[in-house]
Parts: sequence; structure tokens; C-alpha cells
Amino acid sequence: MTANTIWIEKYRPLVLDDVVGQDEIVSRLKSYVISGNLPHLLFTGNAGIGKTTSAVALAREFFGETWQMNFRELNASDERGGIDVVRNQIKQFARTAPLGGGAEFKILFLDEADALTPPDAQAALRRTMENYAPNCRFILSCNYSSKIIDPIQSRCAIYRFRPLSPEAIKTEIARITQTEGLVCSPEQRMPSSMSLRAI
Ligand SMILES: Nc1ncnc2c1ncn2[C@@H]1O[C@H](COP(=O)(O)OP(=O)(O)OP(=O)(O)O)[C@@H](O)[C@H]1O
Ligand SMILES: [Mg+2]
Repeated sequence: MTANTIWIEKYRPLVLDDVVGQDEIVSRLKSYVISGNLPHLLFTGNAGIGKTTSAVALAREFFGETWQMNFRELNASDERGGIDVVRNQIKQFARTAPLGGGAEFKILFLDEADALTPPDAQAALRRTMENYAPNCRFILSCNYSSKIIDPIQSRCAIYRFRPLSPEAIKTEIARITQTEGLVCSPEQRMPSSMSLRAI
């Protein structure tokens, strides 16, 4: 990481314990690490409150040093229409066995899953999830679960990320200012309606 790395990446928590303000979700995700098993998951909630961060931290802790071989992050809105994402990239990753020994399945994180147009692309995703479930668990992320078709929702454990509380934001800003050696007054720390994304 270079000196010019933007702070949302520089300070992206690497472990679940450093994700602030989502305690209940974090403790449930940690229980998957302990049990060594994982259902398909659906993360919903506003932008910038820890969905991607939690998925990556979960994968790091779940797989240990083989996490990069067994975890893939895709964005459903990267390719027009979305259906190609499902058909090609997702299947290619999901159909091959996990790597590095020890792991029983891979994890595919699909950001902006609600960009997949219902019913076609989401129906294709649903079939892929079913067909490849033994090899691959899916973590879908979206802002609104209502945009995900019921058959997918019913196959996932749903995690609703809450907007971060002022206390959680303060905790994170304190961590960042301390590391950066910055002095920050309480007013500067917490202007009204500030979010971490806006820093
Ligand atoms: N709960 C949190 N604890 C600590 N840092 C956080 C938290 N939520 C967000 N951040 C910071 O904000 C950045 C963006 O968060 P993240 O990518 O996880 O958001 P997201 O919920 O996936 O948003 P989107 O819906 O836009 O994909 C992270 O890199 C991290 O620095
Ligand atoms: Mg995200």
C-alpha cells in the first residue's frame, strides 16, 4: 500500500474484529469461521457501511493463507445486462474445486447483485447457486433485499447492515486520526450527517 492510497482502502478493516458498529453481524460471521461452514449469504444495507469489508475479512479468516485462491469478488454491474456475468465469470469460478488443500468450497462475493435484472439474470444466478453449492458459497451484496427475487432470498442467510451509529463512526475516526498523527476536535470529528464514505 503506497503513501497515496485513499483512506477508505488504507483503513479498510482486514479482520472482522475491526469492523465497527455491526457487532451482531460480526459475531455471527465469526461463528462460521469457527464452525468451518457457511451457507449462502445476502448482505443488504446502505452504501459504505461494511458489506464488502465484512465479506473480505470473513474470507481472510475463513481460508487463512489460501484466501486469495478461494475468494473472488465480482461486481454484477460491471458487464452490461448482467446475464454474462452470471453465465461466464461466476460459473467459471464456481465450477472448479477449491485450491490449496483444507478448503471444502470457495466463496464468491457478488457486489451489486440487484443490478442483475430480474427475472432472467437472477434466475440464472439462482440455478448457478444451486448447481455449484457444493463447490462454492455465494455472498450477495445489495442495497435493497426487495430487489432480489424470493427464490434467491430464501436460499440465503440474510444480514441487514445498519447505518453506522455516531459512536461507531467516532471510533473509526479516532483510529484513523491516531494512526495519521492528526489532532481532531470533537466538532471536526463529527460534523452533522457525516459518513465514513464522505471522508
Ligand atoms: N463498519 C465499518 N467499520 C470500519 N470501517 C468501515 C465500516 N464500514 C465502512 N468502512 C470503511 O468504508 C469503506 C467502504 O466500506 P465498504 O466497501 O465495506 O462498504 P459497502 O457496505 O460494501 O458499500 P457499497 O454498498 O457501496 O458496496 C471501507 O473501506 C472502510 O474503510
Ligand atoms: Mg461494497
